[in-house]
Amino acid sequence: MSSPIIICPSMLSADPTRLGQELLAVESAGADRIHWDIMDGNYVEAITFGSRTVAAHRKLTPLPFDVHLMVDNPDRHIENFANAGANLIMVHPEMCKHLHRTLHKIKNLEKKAGIALNPATPVEVISYCIEVLDVVLVMTVNPGSSGQEFLDSQLKKISTLQKILPPPIKIYVDGGINPRTLKKCIERGASGCVTGSFLFGSSNYTDTLNALKNI
Ligand code: DX5
Ligand code: ZN
Repeated sequence: MSSPIIICPSMLSADPTRLGQELLAVESAGADRIHWDIMDGNYVEAITFGSRTVAAHRKLTPLPFDVHLMVDNPDRHIENFANAGANLIMVHPEMCKHLHRTLHKIKNLEKKAGIALNPATPVEVISYCIEVLDVVLVMTVNPGSSGQEFLDSQLKKISTLQKILPPPIKIYVDGGINPRTLKKCIERGASGCVTGSFLFGSSNYTDTLNALKNI
């Protein structure tokens, strides 16, 4: 494998009564970045974290924070999460009235910008935004909850992206990741992954992260 896979634990699957301790535990286990799933009860059913929660945890770790916005009208929230300490902000194109403008808004706040592609969303939506993109997040489950089954149908999308994206743009995968599914994603060009239930449901975070890293 050319370079090590970037592992991003999703705080959605952490014990909600001990979020800070969980974050520190995955940091010392070897996490590369922290993934915050922001859900507003509209775009998806669940309601999760607000920018205050993200800001409070910003003080605990130097690890980069990735904010995955699963919300109606993401433009309304970008500045709050940028101020809360996000390093990368990812939006779903379906929710952006002016996707190109939204991505520029993120970049103007000096944050990295990402597009999250739902299982049914074709890659073409990114075609004219490539110059402003840092990450494409391939949803390998439908957004809304952790613990869902990995969708093999998305592997073809990863291969297509690998062919069309210039190298600085990273392909991350999100949903249903375990060593078996991650291997298939890496083989097709993924360089980062989100891990929720597989990591936080395990008894030893270091061993679990190593199992993902040593594919
Ligand atoms: C789904 C979220 C994911 C989720 C991943 O809407 O975007 O980040 O937390 O959880 P697992 O790894 O359990 O599928
Ligand atoms: Zn996510």
